[in-house]
Amino acid sequence: MSVDRKLYEGKAKILYATDDPEVLVAHFKDDATAFNAAKRGRIVRKGEINCTISTHLFAQLESSGIPTHWIDTPKVDRMRVKAVKIIPLEVVVRNIAAGSLCRQTGISLGTPIEPPLVEFFYKNDELGDPLLTVDRLRLLNVATPEQIDRLRELALQVNRYLSTFFASCQITLVDFKLEFGTTSDAQIVLADEISPDTCRLWDRLETDPERRVMDKDRFRQDLGEVEAAYERVLERVLTRVEPR
Ligand code: TMP
Ligand code: ASP
Repeated sequence: MSVDRKLYEGKAKILYATDDPEVLVAHFKDDATAFNAAKRGRIVRKGEINCTISTHLFAQLESSGIPTHWIDTPKVDRMRVKAVKIIPLEVVVRNIAAGSLCRQTGISLGTPIEPPLVEFFYKNDELGDPLLTVDRLRLLNVATPEQIDRLRELALQVNRYLSTFFASCQITLVDFKLEFGTTSDAQIVLADEISPDTCRLWDRLETDPERRVMDKDRFRQDLGEVEAAYERVLERVLTRVEPR
């Protein structure tokens, strides 16, 4: 694989160009940030773990009919992806109340949300990734109304698939964040990553509200044993039983 030019370095990944303009390489880093990079740290083996989990999930989503940017994973912490134009929206799906939903609405942590909530945040670090209203989405015009409908539909499809998958790993998918991009032929595909950095995952084998946390909230909230939690998610994903 010939990897040449560094195109972009984000908080968790570096994107490289390849000799094929349609193909990029994403290198997953161990660096961890929270609160718009106000908190910085490192999670040992995170790059490898998140790349492996994302690979596993993208491959399954592809075979269930959801298009993704994933091509293949030539190294444990590197995946080849389709070059897409990222739509600057963070699409969050919530099955259980946690995080900013609790802070901003007063809904108690752990309240089931049925049907699942889909929220759009503006992907803009300078503005702190603000939550958008329907009217602000229209005003910003970063996606057409038809594209927004498609993002919502894809996000809910991903949620249905992943909720079942994680349940078979004895993990509850509380909420997660997705990013999407458009290919050169204007198809919307799932991009970025799906990992303990971008999902809230609760261990169904634990009832204690701190011990059950298997995701980046351990880092965000200084709960300790961050690496062990990421390793446990990886192990469950790789050894799970088939969903019924
Ligand atoms: P929130 O409750 O803080 O809005 O987060 C919702 C979900 O989005 C949660 O699973 C964590 C994920 N997330 C990211 O992937 N990146 C971010 O920058 C933030 C704030 C949340
Ligand atoms: N993306 C966030 C940051 O900007 C991290 C997070 O809370 O997931 O640092």
